[in-house]
Parts: sequence; structure tokens; C-alpha cells
Amino acid sequence: MGQGVLTATRDQAAAAGAPGAGRCEDIELEQLARAVGTPAYVYSATHIRDQYRRLAAALAGAEHRIHYSVKANSSLAVLALLRDLGAGVDIVSGGELERALRAGYTGLDVVFSGVGKTEQELADALDAGVLLFNVESEAELRQLDRIARATERVAPVALRVNPEVTVDTPHPYTRTGERGMKFGIPYDEALDVAGRAVQMSGIALRGVDMHIGSQVTALDPYEEGMRRLLELVAALRDFGCRDLEYLDVGGGLAVTYENEEPTNPAAFAATVVPQAAASGLTLIVEPGRYLVGNAGVLLTRVLYRKRSGGREYVITDAGMNDLLRPSHYQAYHHISAAHPRGATATYDVVGPVCESGDFLALNRTMDAVSEGDLLVVHSAGAYGFVMASNYNSRPRPPEVLVEGDRYSIVRERETFADLVRHERVAPDWRRL
Ligand code: LLP
Repeated sequence: MGQGVLTATRDQAAAAGAPGAGRCEDIELEQLARAVGTPAYVYSATHIRDQYRRLAAALAGAEHRIHYSVKANSSLAVLALLRDLGAGVDIVSGGELERALRAGYTGLDVVFSGVGKTEQELADALDAGVLLFNVESEAELRQLDRIARATERVAPVALRVNPEVTVDTPHPYTRTGERGMKFGIPYDEALDVAGRAVQMSGIALRGVDMHIGSQVTALDPYEEGMRRLLELVAALRDFGCRDLEYLDVGGGLAVTYENEEPTNPAAFAATVVPQAAASGLTLIVEPGRYLVGNAGVLLTRVLYRKRSGGREYVITDAGMNDLLRPSHYQAYHHISAAHPRGATATYDVVGPVCESGDFLALNRTMDAVSEGDLLVVHSAGAYGFVMASNYNSRPRPPEVLVEGDRYSIVRERETFADLVRHERVAPDWRRL
């Protein structure tokens, strides 16, 4: 159980020529690529389910809720798959609320995070009856209070506090819980803001929340952050706040890209469960990457090989518009040949986009490849398709869900018509 279908595949792929290197569950990736074309995202349903079940089992010692962070992979099919397992969702926009509702979640399955929720988004989430608004500033709190009172409702709120802990993630852009960042209410202001929240008739203060960063392999920042959240809970209770229900510790659990140890759910649970259980609050976790990261690969074909200034280039049909992470965060994604030829070589693997920053890997020693070979870009299930764009007027790739020996195209490849759907050639001028 739990052994990632594609993580195992990746390890095997590292040993060039090993059988099974080019499979997702029981599907041969070369055959799948012929059927759906490239580039294409492929997700293993079994891996996602295994990850969810491992985490849920590990957290069993505390009253808890797993709210999948939709931003990691917002495919409706993935959302529905997780809903069937009992997950809730963590959303950050009206669009994600719409997706969650379409995938069958109800308002009570939703926590709404995000530093810049608009008036419309807050109103829509109130209409949907979300479980919790994770509020990130006093200004947002006032806005929510006003909207709630205007419609004679009371908004359930958790204050997202910046626990101001030191967090180590592969890139500074994925740290959120350090002092001075845009996220959350500064720790030393949280009690005052809570004091004001309890005075607001449109607000019901139900909990506290943090999210310290993403791809956090260490557990001590969680421990330290929990300690700070619980200090705040104690202070709030002293203050007479008796209605707290939720302790939301955010997401951030790590997966394997290169050779990192993924977060061990049991070790994570040992860090958060005892304290959560002792607090009498319901623990909320918001994992995104942990559930889907290692479940997905991006399939891409080698278009051309070329040599320039002593560098060996592999030019693929997937580019930074399809998978932004290498370019944007200098992120490592393991790349293997679906059918390794037995040799290795060192390449820059680059896409067709007209930017020097368009690469999947630089100076990478990997399976030697030829034109026409299929490449498997691993650990692409999280923050892959969702960060894809149409830059260079490139249609976004399809998303394919695999389960055992069957597959489903859960999102079609975009067409050229899709690219221009919302545009007009001739301006229809108007005057205000
Ligand atoms: N909760 C909140 C409030 C968040 O902001 C995030 C992620 C999560 C949960 C889920 O974090 P996860 O468990 O997936 O680490 N695009 C970047 C990652 C950005 C994460 C943003 N927030 C990347 O590709 O690495």
C-alpha cells in the first residue's frame, strides 16, 4: 500500500532499461501517448487514493478533517475522486469554489483561504455556506462582517495567523509562514484582531489557522507553528472565547522530486495529533501536493536533438507553458525515457517556447534519447497543469486519469478554436 505507483516507476526508471519504467499502473505509457498525443498529463487514481488513505489513517488519533488544497490540481475528476474518499477542500478563489461544487462538494466541505478574497467571492462563499473562512487580515475581517450582516448571516471564521517560524523549502516563493510575508495576520497582532472579531455580529470566531509553506520536508516548523497557534488558543480562551472548534495547520507536506524523503504521514501525525487532541479542537489539514504530486507525470516527445556551444540539447514538445515549475522555481523534475536505450547522457531538456528560460531540466544526466522518444517527466501531478498557460498560443495539454488497465481523458486537449474563443477580430467599440 502507499507505495506510489509512479514513484516506484521513477526509481525503476533511474536504473536504465528496467522493466516497467514506462508504465502508469497497468497502462503502457508509450501506448497511451499514441492514443492521446503529447504533451499530456497522466494521473494515477490508485496513487491518489493510497496517499489519502495513508494520511487519514495516520491522523486517526485526533478528530480531524482533510481538506484537499484544490490549487495543486483542480481537475474535476481528481476532486470527485477525493470527495468519494471523504475529503473536504481548501479553496482560494471563486473559481475553485465553482469547481468544488461541480465536483459534488457542499458548502460544509469547504474552507476558504487566500489573502485577497473579493467582495463577490466572500458573498458567494457565504451563499454556499462554507465551513470556514480563513481570514488573513483585519481589513478582510471587516469586509466579511459587513457582507454577512447585510444579509443577516454570521460568517464562521478562523484567523490565519503568521506563526513566524523558520521554514526551509526548495524555493523562497513557496515559504509563507515567515515574519513579514504577505500571508496571515502578524503573530503579535493576532490576539487584538481576535478581540475585535468577537465583537463583530457578522463574525463567529471558530478557529485559528496557519500555512507555513509548501514542500516542507522538516517537521519542526509544524511543531513550532502548532505551539504558537495553541498559545493563541489558550489566550483566546482566557479571554472568554469558548466557541473555538478548529485548529487548521495548513498544507505543505512534501513529496519526492529528486531524492527527498517525502513527508512520512505517521511522523507528521506524531507532530500534530497529540497537541490537537489535547486542545479539544478538530484538526484541519490542507494537503495539496502530498495527495497528487507523485501521482502524475507529464508525457512529452523528443522533437529534435541539437548541439550548440558545447551543450547537448533535447528539444521536447512540452515547454514552460505546460510545466512552469522548472523555469519558475528552478524545480527539479526527474525525467526518464519511457523505453530507455541503456546509455546515459547529459542534456539541457528544453521546450519549444521562445524564451531562454524555457526548460524542463538543465545539465541533466539522464537516459540517452533520440528524436521521437517518449519522455516521462515525473512528480508532475501537483502545480503542473494548473499552472499551465497558453503562452506562444499553445493549447494546453489533456489530463488523463488512469486506474488499473483503463484510462479516461478527463480534460480534452485544447484546440486552436479554444484559444480564440473569447476574442473578437474587429473591436465592437463602445462609449461609456
Ligand atoms: N493551504 C494554503 C493556504 C496554501 O496556500 C497552500 C499552497 C496549501 C494549503 C497546499 O500546499 P501543499 O500541501 O500543496 O504544499 N506553485 C508552487 C506551490 C505553491 C503553494 C501555494 N500554497 C509549486 O509549484 O511548488
